[in-house]
Amino acid sequence: MRDNTAAISEIKAILGDNKPKAYVRSFGCQLNTSDGEKIKGLLKKMGYTFTEDEHEADLIMLNTCAVRENAEDRVFGIVGSMKKLKELKPSLIIGIAGCMTAQSHIAGKIKKSYPQVDIVLGTSAISALPALLLEALRGAKFSADISEYDDFSEAAEQVRESSFKASVPIMFGCNNFCTYCIVPYVRGRERSRRPGDIISEVRQLVSDGYKEIMLLGQNVNSYGNDLDGEMSFPQLLRELNAIDGDFWIRFMSSHPKDASKELIDAVFRCEKVAKHLHLPVQSGSSEVLRRMNRRYTIEQYLEIVEDIRSRDPDFSLTTDLIVGFPDETDEDFRATLDVVRKVKYDNIYSFIYSKRSGTKAAEMPDSTSEEEKGRRMRELLEVQREVSTEHYRRFIGRTMRVLADDVSKKKQGWLTGKSSEFIIVEFEGDSSLIGQFVDVEITGAMNWAVTGKIKEG
Ligand code: SAM
Ligand code: SF4
Ligand code: F3S
Repeated sequence: MRDNTAAISEIKAILGDNKPKAYVRSFGCQLNTSDGEKIKGLLKKMGYTFTEDEHEADLIMLNTCAVRENAEDRVFGIVGSMKKLKELKPSLIIGIAGCMTAQSHIAGKIKKSYPQVDIVLGTSAISALPALLLEALRGAKFSADISEYDDFSEAAEQVRESSFKASVPIMFGCNNFCTYCIVPYVRGRERSRRPGDIISEVRQLVSDGYKEIMLLGQNVNSYGNDLDGEMSFPQLLRELNAIDGDFWIRFMSSHPKDASKELIDAVFRCEKVAKHLHLPVQSGSSEVLRRMNRRYTIEQYLEIVEDIRSRDPDFSLTTDLIVGFPDETDEDFRATLDVVRKVKYDNIYSFIYSKRSGTKAAEMPDSTSEEEKGRRMRELLEVQREVSTEHYRRFIGRTMRVLADDVSKKKQGWLTGKSSEFIIVEFEGDSSLIGQFVDVEITGAMNWAVTGKIKEG
């Protein structure tokens, strides 16, 4: 662990009693959000407080995502608009962290075209933040660290976004090199955290009152492959399930090529593990899956689904889908629609393929027009709407255990929460119930949520 003590005390001395405000915004996946919580943990140590309004910030940290081009464009748009803020407040420090910084052409573009940016912080260099911030506070025009320290996975204090739902990364990086995906290039190879560290973190969170623990990794099923047989993911689930307390365990993502019988057994045997699996299929066509380097066929994927549904026909499945992978034919796309109808996902996260430079798929010929890809996407969403409207009806008349999340934005006096199946549940209730488990009798179903009332007694 890098020793930041000297840099932190110097920053504190420079800042004095000012209690400066930091605006930290994370884009992309939950692993990135978790990094954002670590960035906040470091800033808190230095004396920063936090604001949701960039206009009143003394420090802005954008924790970026590179998975699709539109995610990057969005950040460039935001950074562009921050030039004005900097003109109004020249002491404002602007930092860019996260996956975009790990691509040299992007880091170069930031340095060349966005002079308002003071700090660039790489994905494996979060612990370099105090040193970089110190340089900026001393007046440096630009300071960057994109090296691979990777010394921040343990012992990092976090400022968690929620007091009842916690994300716990169990591994970093990815070895899979799906041909469309930038993640292995910007996050490096798989590194598993030590089981003892994960178990004690979860134990602490549960004793602090957390009700939902989300285990994170790009492919949690390969957790422990680098630990010399010390622990596998199903074993880790069983260990965490044995921790005393009333809480749920969730995890994502599971790569279908590694979704073993032992994993499914653990999910069904561990009563604290939620009744939901996010199992990204990406495409319904084995030929497209081959070109994506996913290393399973659609038949193998459907076998896993059958195994799950034979144990519990109502078990909830969600997935990720890519529409318009290079040279995806209409027939390939129809195969994707078939899988969506067959599996009856409770939710899908679908994306139009975005070309990422440096990946294998970026070199593949692609004759499908953007208009056609857009049309396919609309058709996919329409099919999913029909599936989920029909499928959500299975909950009517049942009682669901729900973790109350927030007040409903739509209906006064109503709350919203998620069931063990990861279904949104809306019900009438007092805001004092937020962060608690409640039993809700389901009376209605829409295509994005179910509604009900709290069970009496
Ligand atoms: N590791 C996870 C897995 O394999 O399921 C997913 C990680 S990725 C951050 C989330 C999703 O983004 C992927 O499942 C995929 O559907 C989508 N995605 C990744 N690269 C993409 C690209 N170049 N264009 C469109 N969607 C992409
Ligand atoms: Fe990307 Fe594939 Fe790794 Fe997921 S498993 S992060 S899609 S390369
Ligand atoms: Fe995006 Fe990086 Fe996550 S590319 S999806 S923030 S790992």
